[in-house]
Amino acid sequence: MTRTLLLGQTLAFTANPFNAWPDEATRHSSRGGVLIDGGLIVDTGEADALRTAHPEAEIIDYGDALILPGFIDTHMHYPQTGIIASWGKRLIDWLNTYTFPEEMRFSDPAYAKQIAERTLDLTLAHGTTSLTSYCTIHPESVEAIFSAAADRHMRIIAGKTCMDRNAPDGLRDTAQSAYDDSKALIARWHGQGRATYAITPRFSPTSTLEQLQALGTLWAEHPDCLMQTHLSEQTDEVAWVKDLFPDAKDYLDTYEQAGLLGPRAIYGHAIHLTEREIARIAETGAAIAHCPTSNTFIGSGLFDLPGLIARGIPVGLATDTGGGSSFSMLRTMAAAYEIAQMRGTSLHPAQLLWLATEGAARTLHMQDMIGTLEPKSEADLTILNLASTPPIAQRSSRAETLWEALFPTIMMGDDRAIRAVWVSGKPV
Ligand code: GUN
Ligand code: ZN
Repeated sequence: MTRTLLLGQTLAFTANPFNAWPDEATRHSSRGGVLIDGGLIVDTGEADALRTAHPEAEIIDYGDALILPGFIDTHMHYPQTGIIASWGKRLIDWLNTYTFPEEMRFSDPAYAKQIAERTLDLTLAHGTTSLTSYCTIHPESVEAIFSAAADRHMRIIAGKTCMDRNAPDGLRDTAQSAYDDSKALIARWHGQGRATYAITPRFSPTSTLEQLQALGTLWAEHPDCLMQTHLSEQTDEVAWVKDLFPDAKDYLDTYEQAGLLGPRAIYGHAIHLTEREIARIAETGAAIAHCPTSNTFIGSGLFDLPGLIARGIPVGLATDTGGGSSFSMLRTMAAAYEIAQMRGTSLHPAQLLWLATEGAARTLHMQDMIGTLEPKSEADLTILNLASTPPIAQRSSRAETLWEALFPTIMMGDDRAIRAVWVSGKPV
């Protein structure tokens, strides 16, 4: 197998930049390299040293572009690709008006395949090499995204969305069928190639306690699966959950009562949390997917990123398409920056990058496979042009540090900033 040596600037984390100064938490090389072989990274270091040590390697030189681990989206809905940027609604009306009618269409395997392929091609074009997606209630929709990801050799996390109430006819399953269908999909896909199954109750308003408990039982039978759902996104939703589950202590408790709280849980949004909920999430090691473009687009609120990270809760960044308004993790980093600014904290570019790479991988318990440039990591890479448009180029040309050179791309960049993407050691 020929080895390939990619040259450019490189940036790797040596520590979590929320716990250490950014310059101490990162290793930057202005002339670095990443050596890949058979789908894995085998070495990362200085370009000259790598060239000398591996004279046989094929060289691909990206000049002063920045080689990073591929971006990881920790929460999105591939079936909502076709309705991204739909006008004028808040969460519950948005679901009923735009989302549910569109999700109904995924009973058709041909449509599911078309949107699954479109979504993965769009995300790859934006530098996202792994994503964590909800599907629809239809097993066909799960089949479609896992197959499309396998065709592209992408590491993917996905699961059948389960709903047995408060959803229209044609978009409800039952406690038993949610259990049975999810179990069959786990047997078929979990651990196959680069696929991971996430048990996926949509959120407490669309599941009976019986369904949540059935999925809790399933998770206990398959504890290495992830479990994804939504938590406390809008205040109306939190009030609705209180009505639907009068005996629960709070929204999180509706999941905990059913066995749906644990270290491999990942809750989307988690904006309007009580102190008890924050403490329980922290104690149990569950993670949160922060969806900033969605939170502003649907009008949900300002997520307390610094506060929750200070409590030791793992947080990953997520687009939440199509509630989110972009496929770009760069745009998503920018929105996270803006929301933190509104709360009085300026996130450092290193922290933003962490949330989209290694930090995201940690929320998924996949940091040994993706999200870093470490040897033995899978060779999923995104290479950024830090001067992709005239407004960005004129700003980055004045930069005196890497961070100053990178920040304009975080704030103003889009798919034009993606110079190249490698998945599983191959260029896309
Ligand atoms: N809560 C329950 N379902 C959804 C969804 O599809 N998108 C968002 N943003 N929130 C949800
Ligand atoms: Zn969501």
